[in-house]
Amino acid sequence: ISSLPKRKGWHSSGLTLYQNFWYSSKFLPGVISFQRHFLARDSDVLIVSKPKSGTTWLKSLAFSALYRAQFNPSEANANHPLLYSNPHALVHFLEQKYRGQPAGQVPDLTGFANPRLFATHVPYDSLPESIHRSHCKVIYICRNPLDVVVSLWHFVAQVDAGDRAGGWSSMEEFFDNFCQGIDGYGPFWDHMLGYWKASQERPEKVLFLKYEDLKEDTAGNLKRISEFMGVPFSEEEERNGVVEEIVKMCSLSSLKELEVNKTGRSISSFEDKSYFRKGEVGDWVNYISPSMAERLKNIMEETLSPFGLTFRIN
Ligand code: A3P
Repeated sequence: ISSLPKRKGWHSSGLTLYQNFWYSSKFLPGVISFQRHFLARDSDVLIVSKPKSGTTWLKSLAFSALYRAQFNPSEANANHPLLYSNPHALVHFLEQKYRGQPAGQVPDLTGFANPRLFATHVPYDSLPESIHRSHCKVIYICRNPLDVVVSLWHFVAQVDAGDRAGGWSSMEEFFDNFCQGIDGYGPFWDHMLGYWKASQERPEKVLFLKYEDLKEDTAGNLKRISEFMGVPFSEEEERNGVVEEIVKMCSLSSLKELEVNKTGRSISSFEDKSYFRKGEVGDWVNYISPSMAERLKNIMEETLSPFGLTFRIN
């Protein structure tokens, strides 16, 4: 790792280039250990995203849907795990799990009952071989890069307030690096395209979602997610309003107000509350100048549009 190219970013530990993507140097050892040692099961479900694309939301929805036989999401059930645990404590990032181990050891994930639900930010081509080979399912969520960069700026500025987002002097400098593809798990276009192409080549394996679509029709997309995971909602469940219960429980306004999400750190570097901000589509207009927006739109036009990957931009 020490011989790989380095740049500043995110944490004061900086970023390291590995297999054509930039990783927080702090997290890279966990990524490599996960990549080498994780053994996927056919029944596993993996949530994947580039940070700030709606990961926390998707974790909540998928968790609630996948385990609804065990944990009734109905309003009458005040014991649902989502009411008492941050979504990141319920659905673990695998690279974090592997990072947290004593040197030379790997976490024991065999105790998790099937179907296991995990998450990662690792790009498609760098996923562990066992994920590619097994029949496990991958659900990818992406988001308009203009909103991602604004969300990310708030997130890192909050995380490293004393160290101005890993040494950034301004939003403009941060934005410039994002546009060059130099940010955690970037370049964003290669991250998105890896999963976009995989979802077209292997639709039974990779479900590709957009944050904007999830906002527009949460219930419809929750049904798609459940069907993809192999646990479609029955007519009776639909009649009984189970879909709506889950949508409500997982909404930003509900999760943000829970005491558990106002305190604590499910992932050591980040405060749980920093995962819940505005959750709006198009908030970028409040932070990005027209010329900056033009630059990013051009990059999207050059990198994503040729492959049919587009976003509604207000
Ligand atoms: P904003 O910063 O634009 O508000 P991630 O979970 O990938 O880290 O993404 C965080 C973004 O998703 C933040 O966006 C956050 O507010 C938004 N978010 C978190 N929970 C959400 C929910 N339940 N519904 C909609 N958006 C949510």
